[in-house]
Amino acid sequence: MSDINRMDNPVCPVSLEEATLADIEVLECPYPTYQFLRDNAPIFQDPRTGMFVVTRYEDQRRIAMDYENFSNFRPSNDHANLTGAARLAYERFLEKGWVPGESLAARDDPEHKQMRSIFDQAFRPKRIKDMDHQVEQLSYELMDSFIDDGVCEVVAQYAVPLPLIIICRQMGADMDDVWQIKEWTDAWIKGIGFGISDEEKLKYTDLEIQAQHYFQAIFEQLRKQPNDTLLSDLVNLEVPGWGRTLNDNELHAEMMQDTFVGGSETTTNAISAGIMLLDRDRATWDKLRSDPERYLKTFVDEVVRLESPAQAMSRTAKNDVEIGGVKIPKGAQVDLRYAAGNRDPEQFENPDNIDLERKNAGSHLGFSTGTHYCLGAPLARRELYWAFKAFIDKIEDFRLTPGKNNLRHLPNYSLRILKELHIEFERKPA
Ligand code: HEM
Repeated sequence: MSDINRMDNPVCPVSLEEATLADIEVLECPYPTYQFLRDNAPIFQDPRTGMFVVTRYEDQRRIAMDYENFSNFRPSNDHANLTGAARLAYERFLEKGWVPGESLAARDDPEHKQMRSIFDQAFRPKRIKDMDHQVEQLSYELMDSFIDDGVCEVVAQYAVPLPLIIICRQMGADMDDVWQIKEWTDAWIKGIGFGISDEEKLKYTDLEIQAQHYFQAIFEQLRKQPNDTLLSDLVNLEVPGWGRTLNDNELHAEMMQDTFVGGSETTTNAISAGIMLLDRDRATWDKLRSDPERYLKTFVDEVVRLESPAQAMSRTAKNDVEIGGVKIPKGAQVDLRYAAGNRDPEQFENPDNIDLERKNAGSHLGFSTGTHYCLGAPLARRELYWAFKAFIDKIEDFRLTPGKNNLRHLPNYSLRILKELHIEFERKPA
């Protein structure tokens, strides 16, 4: 495995009995396990979760586009059968807030397609284009906020605020509330984290309910007085075929899952991952800044491919299916490990490294494929472009601050979230 993936003592399984993804240390550096599974059991039922983990690119594409046999339905939406912490959280939502409805990402066509049409309208190319200047300006403003210091913690000072402020503006949130919203999204992520107790689940649910009350006031205002934000469209556009707009429960699911977390957290993680990779791969850093216009687009895709902020998405088998000789029974959970497919040597030559000349860089599954292809990908790509462009334009050279980085990630089964990234740098002369 190449140098840019280095980590002290990553878990490297040597037999299928040892292989699992349900282990915090494996998730910290999952790439050796992904490689082992791709080579030895590309469709592997993890004994610790019961899920069928799919690690090869072609199998993932096939499943993601097989709508007859695989559904995006999430067991957490099957309210009648919830147990344990999930049931406690559900009851808390019923009592004090809104039980989140089925989000766009959790629906199947035709309902999904109908709902997606209002999202396509809200995220229309002209709106993303109109936002581009804001994204550019904010990237440079954020760089300027720490450029005189010679040091910075990339995650908190750059990677978090850029997409968060952009989405807050589009969601009609008050700019004074940005960091409050961040606390809520952090809580939401911890609430779906690894091995949390019932008490913690309820604590995070209460924080989500606080966020719901905050957003509810915005929905009500936008219903009375629509404006030109993205959220105004989501609140007021009628879903074709439904004869109605989205209800409060559905809107609340969108706010947390698909916009603030799905949209902002993932982009944050791609920005920090990109800067971490540039530190590890100095040849790429030199080449990128030699001609940013030429290489940035590919670099953005290479970061999303290599570090895949959304490492995996799940599907539920609708029928008994057999793939690659493995029988997947109806009702089974299937774990599409996009991050493993994104390093599949059958699809990408020299897959563990950044290649700024890669011809098929855009064919990664970091934004998925098919009907659920990431709706926010055009926005995310522009945010990443400007984040790296402003970084290159302002900084002469940089390195990780000695003694301050452990490069650990939050324990999460599906999202890759770098906790902190401390760098020191020399600024370019003004
Ligand atoms: C680097 C940043 C991002 C990554 C890696 C990412 C990743 C993904 C992935 C993998 C999916 C597919 C889910 C599946 O297969 O079931 C998805 C869907 C989605 N993403 Fe993103 N995303 C990013 C940025 C954004 C942004 C900026 C937004 C919006 C502000 C957004 C909104 C959505 C929505 C609404 C869906 C659901 C689409 C559907 O089911 O039709 N994402 N994203």
